[in-house]
Amino acid sequence: MSDQGDTPAGSGGEAAGGPMGSPTAGRYFPENSFKDKVVVVTGGGTGLGLEISRAYAALGATVIVPSRTPENQSAFLDEAKARGWKAAGAQVDVREPDAVRRLAEGIEADHGPVDILINNAAGNFVCPAERMSSNAWRAVLGIVLDGTFYCSREFGKQMMRSERGGSICNVIATYAWTGMPGVVHSASAKAGVLAMSKTLAVEWARHDIRVNCVAPGPFESDGAKQNLWPNEEVEQRIRNSVPLGRFADRDEVAGQVLWLTSDAARYVTGANITIDGGMSLGAGGMWQPGERVSRGARAERGNA
Ligand code: COA
Repeated sequence: MSDQGDTPAGSGGEAAGGPMGSPTAGRYFPENSFKDKVVVVTGGGTGLGLEISRAYAALGATVIVPSRTPENQSAFLDEAKARGWKAAGAQVDVREPDAVRRLAEGIEADHGPVDILINNAAGNFVCPAERMSSNAWRAVLGIVLDGTFYCSREFGKQMMRSERGGSICNVIATYAWTGMPGVVHSASAKAGVLAMSKTLAVEWARHDIRVNCVAPGPFESDGAKQNLWPNEEVEQRIRNSVPLGRFADRDEVAGQVLWLTSDAARYVTGANITIDGGMSLGAGGMWQPGERVSRGARAERGNA
């Protein structure tokens, strides 16, 4: 496990850009809101995971970012070093139950029991269902569904043993219930994670462990650009279907993850927060009352 040491946490409300040049979602919360918390963000070195990791770290938490590819952690670890955040990397494939168990033991030995787990690691690509190989199906189910369970089980046991309770937040997607062409593996896995979250929420409530989900719609992400929407035209079509008229910034999603795991949400469990600018309501891109439109051919037909 690589470690950035025990330098004091940076200021939570810090609005100045760090080496990455952007403020963190920590600015939505009081300084030190997560001081002394141990937080694990799987896949926390890139994309949305990186924004989540940065925000917790800026608010005083010790943040560990396990992922398959340690090089992907360096942006976060370098920024943490520069800003005096408490951070560590770790290498794991969340599909391997023994590796996840060893990861949890290692983190507990180095940092103490984990307080907050964010199951963010994912794999995804667009592939027509009829052409999807069994291996491709298994790869995504393994990362998203199995990985979320293995991590929840191991870190959940730690939370129980510590008797401090804890909070788990799972990153799903609105297509877990709306469906979306081309992602049958991911949609099925995320729907499973939604059911898993509700089940663990009721099962582990007696241990004061809360389990919730966030479901982002489209947000600014290089991974999504590369893997989910093939070109600008499709991206614009998706944007047109969002009532708020834009994709989310990653820190707008990260902010909801932080809120769900904060004391402000301590009576919230088994819930999902949808962060999609209203897209999953299904009415985006429709004609608006008061909009000036030509009656066109239909009106002419009606008058004939
Ligand atoms: N279309 C169709 N099948 C694909 C695919 C694609 N774009 N990408 C991977 N697969 C298939 C592979 O062909 C393989 O199946 P096969 O053995 O029948 O050929 C199977 O999925 C496993 O792929 P592989 O790359 O060997 O697995 P992996 O476990 O190393 O990685 C992913 C799986 C999903 C993580 C990998 O595709 C990936 O790195 N994706 C990009 C990262 C990502 O998804 N980020 C999330 C963005 S929202």
